[in-house]
Amino acid sequence: MPLLQALRRLGQRPTMQDWPGLIEAYRPWLPVSAKTPVITLREGATPLIPAPAIAERIGRGVSVFLKYDGLNPTGSFKDRGMTMAISKAKEAGSEAVICASTGNTSAAAAAYARRGGMRAFVLIPDGYVAQGKLAQALLYGAEVLAVKGNFDRALAIVREVADRYPITLVNSLNPYRLQGQKTAAFEVVDALGEAPDWLCIPMGNAGNISAYWMGFKEYQQAGNCQKLPRMMGFQAAGSAPLVLGETVEHPDTIATAIRIGNPVNRDNAIKAREESKGDFMAVTDAEIIEAYKLLGSAEGVFCEPASAASVAGLLKRHGEVPAGARVVCVLTGNGLKDPATAIEHNDSTFHTGLEADTNTVARVMGF
Ligand code: F0G
Repeated sequence: MPLLQALRRLGQRPTMQDWPGLIEAYRPWLPVSAKTPVITLREGATPLIPAPAIAERIGRGVSVFLKYDGLNPTGSFKDRGMTMAISKAKEAGSEAVICASTGNTSAAAAAYARRGGMRAFVLIPDGYVAQGKLAQALLYGAEVLAVKGNFDRALAIVREVADRYPITLVNSLNPYRLQGQKTAAFEVVDALGEAPDWLCIPMGNAGNISAYWMGFKEYQQAGNCQKLPRMMGFQAAGSAPLVLGETVEHPDTIATAIRIGNPVNRDNAIKAREESKGDFMAVTDAEIIEAYKLLGSAEGVFCEPASAASVAGLLKRHGEVPAGARVVCVLTGNGLKDPATAIEHNDSTFHTGLEADTNTVARVMGF
């Protein structure tokens, strides 16, 4: 039974401090033992936010929820995987970790590794990481190496480095990452009391869709839910190897988090699609930005562009959603990570250089 429900049953009022982080909350489901040093920032327990404006656009009594994983400690779902990967690296005696990243993995790896007293090396594609993510990696004390190449190239390099030298790889090739990330599916079921009918999710390296599917299946096998969702994965049109069925040599999209042409979790993602009778589809950058702006201005939820691909995909496929269905869209990262895109793409008014007097302000306001 989830911790908060257990507390309520005991007649105790839960407080935020009661949430111990996802390893303790879901300990029986995770490959940890009494010997594992738990390195946590109390990640997980992110809200499942109803999205009535998006649901209204779909109609037919469909309800839509946003799994807002941008509210994790470093602002993305990567914290779920990183608390596990770093705790297990620490348990194994590792002194340093390495990852390639479009930004979020590097922020999470840096925060958790430093908290665990380890060095964090992060390789990023030079010039293609949103500013907030770079700021995080630096502030958390990572050793940042920006390479003249894309994420796929950076990942190939860190794999070789981790093969040759005593350093732990914490990309999603590390199996503990997906173990931690599967807890997001547990939380969705715990919140809804059942699995949703559709799970819409952005795909880059395709670890997260694989982790969600593992989580839903484990919960169903344990009797915690009766059904399983259709796994609906979305990629940016310029970076859509899973939709095209082939590697993309030069991936390109405004959603830099998912600017990936050669996903390492390809096989797991395809298995999730087949087993769940789900589907993959590409959404254009214009569709991503439309959904991004709609989430902000109609739902009050600020996510990063890559995250909005899940909602862009749902809106694109609105006609196929069964009447009365419950849909969860995964919002993987916080919008504050990429302020430049928000400032460039919005429909708001922004008057600058105004004289600082009441009459001027009132006139500009239309009075
Ligand atoms: N959304 C965001 C905000 C991401 O940062 C990523 C991946 C994804 C979606 C896709 O998840 O790779 O599991 O399919 N970001 C990685 C990184 C690649 O380095 O931060 P995936």
